[in-house]
Amino acid sequence: MSQEHSVLLTPIKIGGLEIPNRFVRSATHEFMAEEDGTVTDRLGELYRRLAEGEVGLIITGHAYVNPNGKASPRQTGIYDDRFIEGLKKITEAVRPFPTRIFLQIAHAGRQTKEKLCGCTPIAPSAVYEPTVKTTPREMSGADIRATIRDFVQAGRRAKESGFHGAQIHIAHGYLLSSFISPHTNRRTDEWGGSTAGRARIVVEIVRGIKGIAGPDFPLIVKLNSTDFLPTGLHLEDSIEIARLLESEGIDAIEVSGGMAEAGQGSVWKGLRAEDEEGYFVENAAAVKRAVRIPVIGLGGNRTFAVMEKFIREGKADLISLSRPFIREPFLVKKFRSGLIRKSECISCNKCFNLRGIRCAELKNR
Ligand SMILES: Cc1cc2nc3c(=O)[nH]c(=O)nc-3n(C[C@H](O)[C@H](O)[C@H](O)COP(=O)(O)O)c2cc1C
Ligand code: SF4
Repeated sequence: MSQEHSVLLTPIKIGGLEIPNRFVRSATHEFMAEEDGTVTDRLGELYRRLAEGEVGLIITGHAYVNPNGKASPRQTGIYDDRFIEGLKKITEAVRPFPTRIFLQIAHAGRQTKEKLCGCTPIAPSAVYEPTVKTTPREMSGADIRATIRDFVQAGRRAKESGFHGAQIHIAHGYLLSSFISPHTNRRTDEWGGSTAGRARIVVEIVRGIKGIAGPDFPLIVKLNSTDFLPTGLHLEDSIEIARLLESEGIDAIEVSGGMAEAGQGSVWKGLRAEDEEGYFVENAAAVKRAVRIPVIGLGGNRTFAVMEKFIREGKADLISLSRPFIREPFLVKKFRSGLIRKSECISCNKCFNLRGIRCAELKNR
């Protein structure tokens, strides 16, 4: 069958919103904002190119909802109304194309440093974080309520900036991921304990955003399916949380995994063989069996036929990729034309660049 007629190039709905094809650009921190989080013209241009390249749904890099949750230099901010004008540079750049764009809203929690976030990092419990070598401050009930408000205001700002939807970041060990993980959430109050207790903060955020942005504003999550720690979050917890979030009106779930201190993050290096592709897709399939909303399969997706097989086998409804779109922003267009069958990305991770993401391999050829 020609690639042009593949299920990967057919539309699908997330909530009431039609996505023109099954390709999702997974959230990718761009390192392109001003130091205070203001959007630059470069960010608008990055997203214009991805839309021109026919990506079905773009998810932006993580935008921090409060300065105390800043994870990285040159990260986009969404912690104040003054950012709305700048964020419109992104949505207006994408608007002429059929592509849809969601803003990822995030808080770094314990995976940041004082020099980035301006305070002792905060977390559900004071559990030492060995990669940043810091013991975070345990959040009070008032801190938790304030953080819920920060996420809700960020959801409102995303809508007012013209995004078609938002994605809440509950993965990779950042704040909300550390709440759902029993390794990092040792609380005995209503914000900890059972899986439902650990997920309560997310439920409150979802209710708040749905309340302020309306039920028609698509709201999705990126959810950890494992922390790769024996005392951490496991797939069964994620499945329970996925069901809970579906019942709260979440419109789709992207399934990821990893936590910095486990030594196994979400961005795996050195993939070559086709059977190494889709390294979180089996977890996505397990989540998909438990819910009716669309599920996005992630992790090392590179080959058109492999991605198509994941959809045909019912393991995922959409397929997300990050690094291949750094190397080849026109990847979907090239797939459609039949020019290529596999992304050229070799998963070397040399694209993390403080001066802006770029494929270091391209100039080496
Ligand atoms: C440069 C870079 C920045 C990333 N930034 C984010 C981010 O802001 N939010 C997020 O959820 N994941 C982020 N990720 C992880 C990707 O979304 C994705 O989950 C991971 O790279 C696996 O997909 P891939 O094999 O297609 O690259 C980033 C990955 C890379 C390479
Ligand atoms: S540097 Fe280029 S080839 Fe290497 S992972 Fe990044 S995009 Fe892929």
